[in-house]
Amino acid sequence: MSGVGILFVCLGNICRSPTAEGVFAAKLTEHADLAARLRVDSAGTAAYHLGNPPDSRSTAIAARRGYDLSTLRARAVGREDFARFRYILAMDRQNLGNLKAIRPAGFDGHLGMFLDFAGMRGAEVPDPYYTSGDRGFEEVLDLVEAAADGLIGHLRRELLG
Ligand code: 4NP
Repeated sequence: MSGVGILFVCLGNICRSPTAEGVFAAKLTEHADLAARLRVDSAGTAAYHLGNPPDSRSTAIAARRGYDLSTLRARAVGREDFARFRYILAMDRQNLGNLKAIRPAGFDGHLGMFLDFAGMRGAEVPDPYYTSGDRGFEEVLDLVEAAADGLIGHLRRELLG
């Protein structure tokens, strides 16, 4: 498998991590040299929504900012993903804990919080699914955009030096 794998992980893979995948992939189109070196995907720690597109609220609010999430489909993360992805980036601490619990002993990639790349060490992308109205989905996008920019900067330095 060629390219450095980048995997975004949340709980359901229908709100936060597909938003991260869609935003990061869209931003990468401005960085063809970096994009050629990467593979991007997202997954959820729970299997509630397998095969489903993102939540309609995520899709609609992302579309307003020019991001198309409509073709993404939910899947569950598994141990095999640690062999396929070098960066595994969690949206919240629960996601990170669940990932650490299945991390194979030999994994030598980066398993951590996505918002670390926004300069927000340890911060979480709050889950908008049950508790928030449109404002929560906007907040997800704000945080994801900032971290995606930071991750692109990090990967440019790391891979293209
Ligand atoms: P996500 O949000 O983890 O950002 O995709 C959720 C989506 C669905 C559920 C929880 C969180 N759920 O419990 O169905």
